Amino acid sequence: MTHIPVLVEEVLELLAVKEDGLYVDATLGSGGHTERILKKLGPSGRVIGIDRDIEAIKRTRQRLKDRRLITIHASFSGLSEALRGAGFKEVDGIMMDLGVSMNQLKDPERGFSFQSDARLDMRMDRSQTLTAEEIVNQWSAQKIERIIREYGEERFARPIAKAIITERKRGPIYSCRQLADIVMRVKRKRGRIHPATKTFQALRIAVNNEIEELQQGLEQSVKLLKKDGRLAVISYHSIEDRTVKRFFVKAERDGLMQRITKKPIVPSEEEVRRNPSARSAKLRGGKRI
Ligand SMILES: C[S@@+](CC[C@H](N)C(=O)[O-])C[C@H]1O[C@@H](n2cnc3c(N)ncnc32)[C@H](O)[C@@H]1O
Repeated sequence: MTHIPVLVEEVLELLAVKEDGLYVDATLGSGGHTERILKKLGPSGRVIGIDRDIEAIKRTRQRLKDRRLITIHASFSGLSEALRGAGFKEVDGIMMDLGVSMNQLKDPERGFSFQSDARLDMRMDRSQTLTAEEIVNQWSAQKIERIIREYGEERFARPIAKAIITERKRGPIYSCRQLADIVMRVKRKRGRIHPATKTFQALRIAVNNEIEELQQGLEQSVKLLKKDGRLAVISYHSIEDRTVKRFFVKAERDGLMQRITKKPIVPSEEEVRRNPSARSAKLRGGKRI
């Protein structure tokens, strides 16, 4: 399963790619967006592709085989340091396509999907130690409830947390399916969305410290952009989008950026038909002043 890039034309337009520009794709993934940026660049243009998932970097380097692509294994919070370390001070544009890729989601070994018997892992960067298994089996009921409520926006956070604690007293909760079954006993299935969707989203955000990472990535990006440099961010759920929206509003108020999108750009019906995973995408962008 390969990842289909989302809102590609819209991102390219927002970045206003220049032939000889230097661009950062801070979420390289399978390189869908990077590939299209590279097509717009001339021989002296460059893309710095960053991902916290080393496997994604290796796979995409191999697939694109382009000497104008420089890859770095780093996360948003290490963005400035990574660029400085590679000898870059300022760039013409930065993009972030948040969340996990289809390759990560559908790889049963990575433990992101509630339909798999894989161990509860959910790390984007497998060199990190914290896993979903540790949260579910070792964190307190209060902490588990809090992340499910805050990061999953789940109304049933308390009963789900309680059910997890009851179950783990009988024995460790190892697999994704085990956790999905626990949630299903608390929350019955209504409609097409799996009852464990919000709980899994919450765990993934907590394991990867996603909101703090995003906040830091955005703040560092502003400082890395040249004057008129562009920042484009695609988010996939309300917690991410709220963080991105607030960031742009504040950056504009502080006189650092000018918003290009007052309202987020969303995929066309045709794109959603072609790629249902794009349905919740929201693109926001701004220009450094
Ligand atoms: C939605 S995918 C990007 C897909 C890519 N645009 C494409 O077209 O193939 C998100 C990628 O960003 C990476 N990622 C998510 N959060 C990150 C962070 N804080 N720092 C670095 N990489 C991150 C994930 O590992 C994943 O590979």
